[in-house]
Amino acid sequence: MRYFGSKVTVVPTLYRILSEKKPGGSFCDPFGGIGTIGSFFKSKNYRVYCGDVLTFAHYFQITKISQNTTPQFEKLFSHTDFTSCQDIVEYFNNLKPQKGWFSKNYVDKRKFFIPQNGEKIESCWKKIRLWEKQGLITYSEKAVLLASLINSMDKFANCAGTYYAYLKNWYQESLLPFKFELINFTPGNSNCKCFHCDAKELVGKQKFDILYLDPPYNERSYAGYYHLPETIALCETPPIHGKSGIPSSIRPKSAFNSIKTAKNELQCVLNESRFHVLAFHYTDNGIIRSDELRSILNEYGEVQEFTLVAKGYTNKSQCRDVNHRLYVVES
Ligand SMILES: C[S@@+](CC[C@H](N)C(=O)[O-])C[C@H]1O[C@@H](n2cnc3c(N)ncnc32)[C@H](O)[C@@H]1O
Repeated sequence: MRYFGSKVTVVPTLYRILSEKKPGGSFCDPFGGIGTIGSFFKSKNYRVYCGDVLTFAHYFQITKISQNTTPQFEKLFSHTDFTSCQDIVEYFNNLKPQKGWFSKNYVDKRKFFIPQNGEKIESCWKKIRLWEKQGLITYSEKAVLLASLINSMDKFANCAGTYYAYLKNWYQESLLPFKFELINFTPGNSNCKCFHCDAKELVGKQKFDILYLDPPYNERSYAGYYHLPETIALCETPPIHGKSGIPSSIRPKSAFNSIKTAKNELQCVLNESRFHVLAFHYTDNGIIRSDELRSILNEYGEVQEFTLVAKGYTNKSQCRDVNHRLYVVES
């Protein structure tokens, strides 16, 4: 899935820098997003503790990081003709498109999807909600199905990587027929855990070998930019408004999205933290100025700085290079 601020293109560099400091042990990623960094470190046998405040991000993390086998779907299989995950995938891909809340708002009123795709997504979503209501799927099976639906949906969404706005001219991929695919778990350390909570809560749970902090660095709220994945994960059909169809009771912005609160919030997170190595990932033009960051981090030990080049999204659905800085502190 396209994720704003994703560090997917710099994971190998990040791993090289951090594994030299700590070649194994616990790795905490409390601003974990859709689990990109956490699942990489899981695959390198770190014991990963991943978190995020958003429900859909948490479902991606469950799917890739805390799961170590494909879901068993025991109850669903005993009540249907399905005998494998592949049967579920085929079933979803052959479901009859349906109209409803999703297609009315994100197909008819707003051009996020072409009709046959929007209505197909609607029927998959309804089916998952029904199975949950009937008690046929467990919490983690629901998480895997919803994360997979969101991930599949994103490939056909007529937008530039966020759900802030749809594109005037149809995005090429959004015209192709929707296909449901299951996300696989990431093989690796089998003692990883995921938490749906604020970073302050996760960082205080224990002393971590590596604490990797990658908070939002500008005023764009993830809850707002990813409102549709979040609504799908929450299985809600709330009143919505505006060009992007954002829920009227939009979830609150993170304190890291505001000039007034970001610096103080970072200090609160660090006050709660215990670590051997701290890696703080941020851009030079972020809300907290580089000189302020250096003076905050200096209190925890000598700060080393690395510049990383990541691919970011522009609002024109093209990639562009973004400079990031990794501040590493060894306690
Ligand atoms: C820059 S993104 C992380 C990107 C991720 N490292 C990746 O490579 O895909 C920041 C994440 O922090 C989450 N977030 C914002 N405020 C938070 C908080 N107070 N506690 C936990 N997560 C938070 C956002 O929902 C978002 O997913």
